[in-house]
Amino acid sequence: MEAKTSLLDNMIGVGDMVLLEPLSEDSFLENLRKRFDHNEIYTYIGSVVISMNPYRSLPIYSPEKVEEYRNRNFYELSPHIYALADEAYRSLRDQDKDQCILITGESGAGKTEASKLVMSYVAAVCGKGQEVNKVKEQLLQSNPVLEAFGNAKTVRNDNSSRFGKYMDIEFDFKGDPLGGVISNYLLEKSRVVKQPRGERNFHIFYQLLSGASDDTLEKLKLDRDFSKYNYLSLDSAVVNGLDDATSFRTVKNAMQIVGFMENEVQSVLELVAAVLKLGNIEFKPESRCNGTDESRVKDKNDLKEMCELLGIEQAVLERAFSYRTVEAKLEKVSTTLNVAQAYYARDALAKNLYSRLFSWLVTRINESIKAQTKTRHKVMGVLDIYGFEIFEDNSFEQFIINYCNEKLQQIFIELTLREEQEEYVREGIEWTNIEYFNNAIICDLIENNQNGIMAMLDEECLRPGTVTDETFLDKLNTVCAEHQHFESRLSKNSKFLNDHSLPHSCFRIQHYAGKVLYCVEGFVDKNNDLLYRDLSQAMYKANHSLIKQLFPEGNPAKVNLKRPPTAGSQFKASVGTLMRNLQTKNPNYIRCIKPNDKKAPHIFTESLVCHQVRYLGLMENVRVRRAGYAFRQAYEPCLERYKMLCKRTWPHWRGPARAGVEVLMTDLQVPSDEFSYGRSKIFIRNPRTLFSLEERRRQCLQDLATLIQKIYRGWKCRTHFLLLKKSQIVVAAWYRRYAQQKKYQRIKSATTVVQSYTRGWQARKLLRELKHHKRCEEAVTTIAAYWHGTQVRREYRKFFRANAGKKIYNFTIQRIMQKYFLGLKKTLPSMSPVDKNWPARPYHFLDTAHTELSTIFHLWRCKKYRSQFTKEKKAVYEEKLEASELFKDKKSLYPSSVSQPFKGDYLEISKNPKYQKLNSCVEEKVLLADVVNKINRANGKGATRILLLTKKNVVLADQKTGQVKASVALPDLTSVSVSTQNDGFFALKLKEGSASAVKGDFLLSSEHLIETITKLHHIGSTASDDGEQLNIDISDEFLVQFKQDKVCVKFIQGAQKNGSSVSCKRKNNRLLEVSVPASA
Ligand SMILES: Nc1ncnc2c1ncn2[C@@H]1O[C@H](COP(=O)(O)OP(=O)(O)OP(=O)(O)O)[C@@H](O)[C@H]1O
Ligand SMILES: [Mg+2]
Repeated sequence: MEAKTSLLDNMIGVGDMVLLEPLSEDSFLENLRKRFDHNEIYTYIGSVVISMNPYRSLPIYSPEKVEEYRNRNFYELSPHIYALADEAYRSLRDQDKDQCILITGESGAGKTEASKLVMSYVAAVCGKGQEVNKVKEQLLQSNPVLEAFGNAKTVRNDNSSRFGKYMDIEFDFKGDPLGGVISNYLLEKSRVVKQPRGERNFHIFYQLLSGASDDTLEKLKLDRDFSKYNYLSLDSAVVNGLDDATSFRTVKNAMQIVGFMENEVQSVLELVAAVLKLGNIEFKPESRCNGTDESRVKDKNDLKEMCELLGIEQAVLERAFSYRTVEAKLEKVSTTLNVAQAYYARDALAKNLYSRLFSWLVTRINESIKAQTKTRHKVMGVLDIYGFEIFEDNSFEQFIINYCNEKLQQIFIELTLREEQEEYVREGIEWTNIEYFNNAIICDLIENNQNGIMAMLDEECLRPGTVTDETFLDKLNTVCAEHQHFESRLSKNSKFLNDHSLPHSCFRIQHYAGKVLYCVEGFVDKNNDLLYRDLSQAMYKANHSLIKQLFPEGNPAKVNLKRPPTAGSQFKASVGTLMRNLQTKNPNYIRCIKPNDKKAPHIFTESLVCHQVRYLGLMENVRVRRAGYAFRQAYEPCLERYKMLCKRTWPHWRGPARAGVEVLMTDLQVPSDEFSYGRSKIFIRNPRTLFSLEERRRQCLQDLATLIQKIYRGWKCRTHFLLLKKSQIVVAAWYRRYAQQKKYQRIKSATTVVQSYTRGWQARKLLRELKHHKRCEEAVTTIAAYWHGTQVRREYRKFFRANAGKKIYNFTIQRIMQKYFLGLKKTLPSMSPVDKNWPARPYHFLDTAHTELSTIFHLWRCKKYRSQFTKEKKAVYEEKLEASELFKDKKSLYPSSVSQPFKGDYLEISKNPKYQKLNSCVEEKVLLADVVNKINRANGKGATRILLLTKKNVVLADQKTGQVKASVALPDLTSVSVSTQNDGFFALKLKEGSASAVKGDFLLSSEHLIETITKLHHIGSTASDDGEQLNIDISDEFLVQFKQDKVCVKFIQGAQKNGSSVSCKRKNNRLLEVSVPASA
């Protein structure tokens, strides 16, 4: 919420004098002093602003201040000139009311500064834009130009306005400035030729001499030294705090901005220079023969230079200074001028030249700043007129100035009271008139058309006969003697006869601001404001466009014998117009007060301020304001300000503001005679009531401040938290976005890879298919081509010579094969399977076939051979084959057995009678009968036995007797052991516990070992019940069971001496060594 200060906040003294309690002159002054000491230079009386001149720059006019006061209510902030300017500007813009700002006060009180502040404020707050800014700039820059030409240092003010200025600023409906019109009132031109002690001529003279370049000065024929010019007073030529040279540049710049052309600026400066030169022209008397005195220019150099500057013929001007032509009807009378008259003429010319130049400047500025559009304008007038003046010597100028101030005071009284009264009537408040001093009587003394001082003066000036200032005073003494505000020594009013403070040549007027003693000297002349026609004609003849414009009455073609209106009547008329103009507008007052006479800061001269307060009628102003009600406020702001004091209106009042205020007042128990309800405002009679309301409000504010603080802290924390939360969401959102982006990019690149692979795969697949298709097409084409070729070849083969080669080849091959097979038939080897012969191959290419045929032939021959075998022979060969499987490459004896046929019955046992008995004992058919050596188990010596082998038994019988020694059933036989050597030993191992195994295993030796073992193996296999084969161990060391002993039979290769015989020797219980002859 925007912080609002009020007129009533942080008050130093009282911001509005209406609230002063108790109201007296002392308290009024004390309040002003207190505020002045605290740099509070502005104080209100209701809507009137009192402004104290601080005589130093205060930091209260910054752009920030402008913003502070912009669009705020008048009483909302502490008193300021900006508040008044804002109020005026807003009611002009929003309510379409023309405004005028009336700035009054005595010389040096700060009127000009105040007017500039108002203008700068309005410029700052009104619209902007290129065109508008240009207008604003031109309006603002007109000030430095007019100040340079119209202001001068006086004893009261270093920058005293010596002319009255009223500026109408024109605005469009939006409140944007369109342009302006400046009216000027009577420049104090006597200053051009003479300045009172301690004062200066107009600023521009000093600025030109100090600030112009050497070149410019040379062109203007001027010297930088002030002392060279009679019109420039020397005693205070340099003013503290004024930099003339810088000001000159500012002025030139301002002229350029306002729109002066280069040649116009030059012409203006030439005129200023001409005035200075004019002051230097001096005259000397020259007696004429007729006894009269005639004046002559003393040193013609200045005259010559001046004439050169203005383009005037020197002789013409010289003559104009010496003669005066008076035209009456058709008569022309020329009289000579004496020295005094010549000086008078010179000064009159200088004054006229300068004042006309000044008027021209105002016209020229008006031309530049005039509004371009013809639409209806709203107007804000700013009046900055010379202040009320009381000098030691007061002349016609002071009389005019003070008259003007009287008129302004008059309008102030009228308008303020009228406005005040109208407000009460408007608001429906009961009102009784208030007495106040009305200065209308003084205005009447001066301006009355019948017997007013001005009318008397005009009468004197126009009267034929000798007219002097004294005759004028006499007239006043007779006409105005009775007037209570007119004092003169010689008047009929006897009470001043002995008043020595009132010289004979003076009269005194009791102005509203004090008594002023006017010396009548010069009144008639100044009022006449005569310029000899010879001079104006001389000026008109000048070869200088500006001069020519300034003296139109010098044109001989337009000679006007009518007297021009006097200065006084002109001024009266223009002031009258001004007053009428002001009355049509809504007035806003700024009453400037000068705190001291020393132009110094921090000094508050009570008597001086008191005097101003009195004559400005400020006390009366306050009284008038308070007579009704001290304070008034519209219902809305009043309710807004105090609504917190009542529960029913706080925090919101729903309903009309007036009803709210009524509720408020009832609740607060304010006595009913203390206030009144107007139509739109509440009127509070006594300041005390307001202050008590304020005090209650202050206390309430403290409580509210705590509440606001509490709520604010809560709000701040909450806002901070929400901000953090919001930020967190933003951060999270950003992070998620970032993360999703990354993820998306990853997915995208992965997708691209997958896609590229898929596409690659698809493309390859497609390529493959296309290639396949192409190959198919090519294959089809090729096949078709070959097929066609074959077809064609087949059809045409018979016609090809190339086929002959193949046919010949096949034929040759057939012939060769035929020959080969026939040749082979003839050279076939014998049918013996052992025949290794085979004819040599005839051709290399038949190599494989030849070898293959050899194998086929051999297999065929073997088959043939086998097919011739008988059953017995087949059995013999099967035995041989079994022997080979058992012993080949295992026993050294085997090869020698291969060629020996297996006879079986070597003893011819059935035929031999010797063995008849034996044969009868054997039930089965004898499969083998042979003589073997049975090795004695004890000593290893052999004894011959007959070995019979039947299908079921192995029988050992004595060779001599044929008696059966042992019979072993084949199932009792577990295995047969033989050596690897070339011997015939073998051991028959019996099943332990069988009947045959009583004496142990048999160790035998046979000459037909291979045959015996083979048969035994064959029979053993067939005899076994379970199909178990008989084991044949072939080893050089094996164990045999002799009765209870297990004896190792070991075969060793015996020495050569034993020859081929095998010897067997029992070495010990465990070892029986068989010595075998070494094989060859
Ligand atoms: N508000 C202000 N702040 C600072 N200085 C100021 C202010 N008002 C006036 N002054 C000073 O007082 C001087 C006189 O003021 P200003 O020229 O406005 O007086 P004035 O009332 O116009 O007098 P006059 O009637 O002689 O023209 C200024 O030159 C300036 O130095
Ligand atoms: Mg001024």
